[in-house]
Amino acid sequence: MPALISPYGGELVDLLVPREQLLQRTAYANTLPSLQVSPRIACDLELLAVGAFSPLHGFMNEADFRAVLDTMRLADGTLFPMPITLPVEPNPELQPGRQVALRDSRNNLLAIQHIEEIYGWDLETTAAAVFGKFDARHPIIAEMHRWGPCQISGRLEVLQLPPHLDFAELRRSPVQTRAELESYGRSNVVAFQTRNPLHRVHEALTKRAAAAVDGVLLLHPVVGMTQPGDVDHYTRVRVYKTLIDNYYKADRSLLSLLPLAMRMGGPREAVWHAIIRRNYGANHFIVGRDHAGPGSDSSGQPFYGPYDAQELVLRHVDEIGVQAVPFTEMVYMEDEDRYEESAKLPSGARTRKISGTQVREDYLEAGLPLPAWFSRPEVAEILAQSYPPRHHRGVCLWFTGLSGSGKSTTAERILNLLLEAGRNVTLLDGDVVRTHLSKGLGFSKADRDTNIRRIGYVASEIVRHGGLVICAAISPYRAARQDVRNLVGAGFMEIHMATPLAYVEAHDVKGLYAKARRGEITGFTGIDDPYEPPLNPEFTLTAEGATAASNARLVVDKLVELGYILPR
Ligand code: ADX
Ligand code: MG
Repeated sequence: MPALISPYGGELVDLLVPREQLLQRTAYANTLPSLQVSPRIACDLELLAVGAFSPLHGFMNEADFRAVLDTMRLADGTLFPMPITLPVEPNPELQPGRQVALRDSRNNLLAIQHIEEIYGWDLETTAAAVFGKFDARHPIIAEMHRWGPCQISGRLEVLQLPPHLDFAELRRSPVQTRAELESYGRSNVVAFQTRNPLHRVHEALTKRAAAAVDGVLLLHPVVGMTQPGDVDHYTRVRVYKTLIDNYYKADRSLLSLLPLAMRMGGPREAVWHAIIRRNYGANHFIVGRDHAGPGSDSSGQPFYGPYDAQELVLRHVDEIGVQAVPFTEMVYMEDEDRYEESAKLPSGARTRKISGTQVREDYLEAGLPLPAWFSRPEVAEILAQSYPPRHHRGVCLWFTGLSGSGKSTTAERILNLLLEAGRNVTLLDGDVVRTHLSKGLGFSKADRDTNIRRIGYVASEIVRHGGLVICAAISPYRAARQDVRNLVGAGFMEIHMATPLAYVEAHDVKGLYAKARRGEITGFTGIDDPYEPPLNPEFTLTAEGATAASNARLVVDKLVELGYILPR
């Protein structure tokens, strides 16, 4: 057994400008050109600044970036599995030797980025290296299409951490977490990573791990960015607090929030998580089944094997400086009323489990209480409050298809059926939207994508407030649609109007195909501009051999069947 690096130890990078220089550096930063960064970059910047990504001293330069992709190591050989970079759109102000002020989406000043290097990166190779494959269904790959094509690196002077107004008392830097852990007076700390509400299975897992190492449990949930569609962090933190207060021993457990932006990178992500927890003072890390797995790819296969992440962590524990506490899948043993690892079940044991998807779909969305063997009653109550049954929730019906394929006519029929059923609905029709929300946008790829994201943003707000929205725009590009799917989250239904080109062109209701063929309009989808059909739409309809009324009926019947509309 290798010697453990003692907890609370290890050097921490600190990128925060010293207090006495803050006024002067802030005044200087305000004279620089600004670069507004995404919420993901703001999360990365915060964790870089406080040393959670130690030994990183800033966003990666090209040598480190390439080495990380190829070898999971920095150029000097130090294990670090995840590229942490600052992608940007090219801009004459971004030149080596200059500096930019990094600001968050609300324009809060965060840092001075010195530009020492600007280098290109490639989506396909990066995704293939980090995620094991380049697959459009990966939730982060959809987002990466929007990252700029260049990356900048250089010295990073952090002036202010991104401000957080929520749960301030539970947010601790690595230094603060180490100090707090030290006050427990135990030599072992086992950290638990999670992006989900905790159920009794997780309670059993974490308590077992803490007992196994005779140490303190660091309950360290991610509150930065997780998989789109996950339970929001406000709800989750209420769950964690209830559990810590009622079911865990106060002298053996610490709840602390981690503003990490997850990549859903399975094995590489698990190693990264372990390194981060070492920096926060843990010397043990729990890795169970399918750690940081993003679900299934576009062929329906899981991205990773259930224990790939665990195996990769186990191979690197010495270098990371934390021991892995591995678990096979934990399941409920009905006869003994307790949880056990699947690898340790007595033969013939009767087991039960409920997947995360089932929690959402079969219980919360159906308005059924979570059973007592599965969740603590306080947790079941919080989740039921935050996730009401489906007929109180929002839905986005997203039509995509060629011009003249029947999107608008079908959408209008659905609108009327839903209004008749007593629901309030908004229709965002591509042509109509272009007269106000997207006035001035043309049909270049960039303008089309902007149009789709604007519609998607409005749709996501409507859905978040429990409303119904129907969007009908050609939306020819897969990546933009995937982005909207992520933005809207649960309740997004993609409807492909798959009416064949030959049919829509023969009918040519607006005469546009004829104009496009004559060359009077260019960049016309299906003629001289691409249409990328959805890979896994919730619905595929066609106007050929069907009427708008019959198609609309199919969709509305499905909504009733799924519980989004109460049957009359
Ligand atoms: S993750 O994306 O953050 O890994 P999640 O919050 O579901 O997702 O899991 C947190 C940790 O608990 C991971 O290490 C995962 O492998 C482990 N885990 C969750 N559920 C189980 C289970 N039933 N059996 C074994 N390990 C589990
Ligand atoms: Mg239309």
